[in-house]
Amino acid sequence: MLRVDIITIFPDYFREAFDYGIIRRARAAGLVDIQAHDLRAWTLDKHHVVDDRPFGGGDGMVLKPEPIFAAVESLAGARRREGIAAGKRVVLLSPQGKPFTQSLAAEFAKGEQIVLICGRYEGVDERVAEALVTDELSIGDYVLSGGEPAALTVVDATVRLLPGALGSETSATNESFSDGLLDCPQYTRPPEFEGMRAPEVLLNGNHAEIARWRRDAGLEKTKRNRPDLLKE
Ligand code: ADE
Repeated sequence: MLRVDIITIFPDYFREAFDYGIIRRARAAGLVDIQAHDLRAWTLDKHHVVDDRPFGGGDGMVLKPEPIFAAVESLAGARRREGIAAGKRVVLLSPQGKPFTQSLAAEFAKGEQIVLICGRYEGVDERVAEALVTDELSIGDYVLSGGEPAALTVVDATVRLLPGALGSETSATNESFSDGLLDCPQYTRPPEFEGMRAPEVLLNGNHAEIARWRRDAGLEKTKRNRPDLLKE
């Protein structure tokens, strides 16, 4: 079973987040155990302070290192990245991270534990990225108000790839990014809707022709929406 531990100052944010669809089914089937933990549980002071003003001045607050190092030690068993066991990933979500991709999701799905650290405020003390985490990841080139929506995204993309999560009738091998391209367009009934017809080739039952049309249509869509995927 994959274990997912989320470190956050808003554990309630995740209360229902994993209670729907494929993720709910995967949890019920015992494929994954997901826990959200309150970072304040690892503070030692009376007021449970998790942040402080940035050295050098500037706006906003920075998450302090001590509670984060203590949380990772208790959840993953080490206070430095070198001590994190193979098969475990400790991930800091931040806009400064490397891009999170489908291939990273597939790696995570093969591991035994993911610890996700949600950043907040104007940042996280850089010693967390320097010495503690195995991966600093961003879900895209935009700034969220915290790492929580990014943690949701990483968990969702990973858990649906666990063997058995999609059910026997569906597979992750024919979807967008599985071959570096976008998936082809899909149509369903009615064959004509408000003057727009579904492609005839999809209605004629010729499976070789359908396969060729899908390959071409996925490539066409990739050229139009994501030309960057076709470079190199
Ligand atoms: N925290 C704030 N923005 C983020 C992003 N784009 N990805 C991951 N974590 C974030």
